[in-house]
Amino acid sequence: MKRRTFVKSSLGAAASAVASRFPLPRVESNTLRSAAAKKNLLAGSAVSRSQLENAALTPILAEQCNILVAENEMKWKATQPERGHYDFAAADDLLAFAESNGMRVRGHNLCWHEDQPQWFSDLVTRENAAAILKEHIHNVAGHYAGRIHSWDVVNEAIDPEGDRKDGMRDSLWMQLLGLRYIAIAFHAASEADPKALLTYNEFGLEDDDPYNERRREITLEFLRWMRTNQIPIHALGLQSHLKARYDYLPDWGGLRSFLKQVAKLDLRVFVTEFDIEDSELSAKSEKREKQVAELCRDYLKNVLKHPHVTAVLTWGMVSHPTREKVGFDRASGKQHIALPLDENLRPTPFLSAMIEAIEKR
Ligand code: XIL
Repeated sequence: MKRRTFVKSSLGAAASAVASRFPLPRVESNTLRSAAAKKNLLAGSAVSRSQLENAALTPILAEQCNILVAENEMKWKATQPERGHYDFAAADDLLAFAESNGMRVRGHNLCWHEDQPQWFSDLVTRENAAAILKEHIHNVAGHYAGRIHSWDVVNEAIDPEGDRKDGMRDSLWMQLLGLRYIAIAFHAASEADPKALLTYNEFGLEDDDPYNERRREITLEFLRWMRTNQIPIHALGLQSHLKARYDYLPDWGGLRSFLKQVAKLDLRVFVTEFDIEDSELSAKSEKREKQVAELCRDYLKNVLKHPHVTAVLTWGMVSHPTREKVGFDRASGKQHIALPLDENLRPTPFLSAMIEAIEKR
């Protein structure tokens, strides 16, 4: 082998070894990622541990997203499966993937009434609840300190249809600590990671109907209460699990005035878990996808009008059957939750609609 050839090929090998350890983001034109970057927006998706092992999906994530969030891997069950035993392996992998591709990461979540490990309800008492909550948040948010764009500190704390007069959810946290649990959680997160934007994340705030309107009212009261009590919060998360209805687009009037009120509280807004249930639409995929895309475009157009909305994440990239409706029979077996890619990882009109709405901002 001539010397020159040798030098060339060994350099090439070294470069590609580095490239595979730290793959460069493939920012191509006309992607969600490039459209978002131009508007100084964050756009991305939730991702699960198994999806991160899917070699067909990961390049698409790197190409389309500049922010990711763990679907389940940062929840209590994953991070503290046994009392005092913390496991960060799955979430560490997500952070490594995101950071090597120049993406930000949201943290989800530090306090929720669901997805608690069994030990929690077995061991928790009024006496130890505050200490357990603080310790968990100090350990988990502390582990990732400085690397998280925003933490969903408290998730889904309102329940206007429940028993409490104030519209707050009567969760185990509430029963043990009263409203104090909210303050404890946000203060602990602020101590553990002063750089992360601390977020309250909620569902059912988007649509026009009285159910959503009531939830907006209670959420505003709750956010005002947080401000009055100097609880460190920076943002509201709109989960945005929408449902497509045949031949109908909401007016979004309630949402618009809600977002103005939220801006007055000096809070940013993130769309955190966007997806569209399309089970009621036509079984014909083309027609259904078009209607879903219309709703997606219309929703994002309305939300992105507000300058304090700075991030949009879908709850996954790949369309899938709903969890709640397993067994739901639609003759053709089409997907029921629509997302930017179809089951074969091909882009759907949902993705183009997202890009369009962002480009028009
Ligand atoms: C869901 C996950 O997608 C499921 O895999 C898991 O079994 C349950 O949680 N609101 C949230 C998310 O804040 O954490 C939920 O994620 C969906 C609803």
